[in-house]
Amino acid sequence: MGPGDLNQALCDLPEMSDPNLILGLASPDDAGVYKLTDDLAIIQTIDYFTPIVDDPYDFGQIAAANSLSDVYAKGGRPLTAMNVVCFPTKTLDISVLKTILRGGVDKMMEAGVLLVGGHSVDDVELKYGLSVTGVIHPDRLVTSAGARPGDKLILTKPLGTGIISTALKGGAADGGLVAKITRYMATLNKKASELMQEVGVNACTDVTGFGLLGHAAQLAENSRASMELRFSSVPYFPEVAEFSRRGLCPAGLSRNKDFYSPRVRFAVDLPEHLRDTLFDPQTSGGLLISVAAAKADLLLSKLRQAGIADAAIIGEIGSQPAGAITVT
Ligand code: CO
Ligand code: CO
Repeated sequence: MGPGDLNQALCDLPEMSDPNLILGLASPDDAGVYKLTDDLAIIQTIDYFTPIVDDPYDFGQIAAANSLSDVYAKGGRPLTAMNVVCFPTKTLDISVLKTILRGGVDKMMEAGVLLVGGHSVDDVELKYGLSVTGVIHPDRLVTSAGARPGDKLILTKPLGTGIISTALKGGAADGGLVAKITRYMATLNKKASELMQEVGVNACTDVTGFGLLGHAAQLAENSRASMELRFSSVPYFPEVAEFSRRGLCPAGLSRNKDFYSPRVRFAVDLPEHLRDTLFDPQTSGGLLISVAAAKADLLLSKLRQAGIADAAIIGEIGSQPAGAITVT
């Protein structure tokens, strides 16, 4: 799992086993998966966080898209969701919450997901997200453990939302740029997920809090494989280079860098601020898909035809020591 004592605490628990458990604490992945019958498994995930944009409706949309993403990363279909709300009733007007929830429910409707309940607590800091239940045929599940040497790696959204959100808080990002990253973060990974299932892939995860390199390292480790990433092929918002050069980086970026750097070898001469984009924690980031080389171009063209214009082949799976990542 990822950096930090909090994550460690979540993982250091007695292992519970069950013959129908497909993905649980013993096999850290994007979601928990439990087999109900031979042709039906449920996918469960929860995600909530503090606002990263100022507009409450946009925040609701982004939070919902982010929460649904773990189901899409496993190739599943989200069915139902519950609102998770922490709200400071003493300092914020309740209309703010109503607008956030409206943004969330509109995103759920777009995804074809039914809101079935929720839970709220009064808290000093606002947080919002969803607990989501999805379904999948157990044989169709896409885990983060199936990547094979020779696979190509496809990333479906550009990097840099963490750095740009930090620049926004520091007053350095203009409205047009914020609108642009908002659009990306509010975009569901639904279409990308459906297309990867249509083509058939070996592994997938979504790029969120641990940055591209953190999630890539987990995928490599779970698949007992190595990985080579080509920096020049990785899509990122061009503005992040300037912001990160000026030190406008989220705290999570340094944590990711400290934790994952030992597994990454930079075989290319890249200035530190460009390396940083690869560690930048993403909100509602894209899918990182490992697909057989023979199908990679087909999947890429289908993604682009579907309007996922930034999708790119960014590297491949190798057979070096498990978990090792080389950036060229
Ligand atoms: Co995930
Ligand atoms: Co998640």
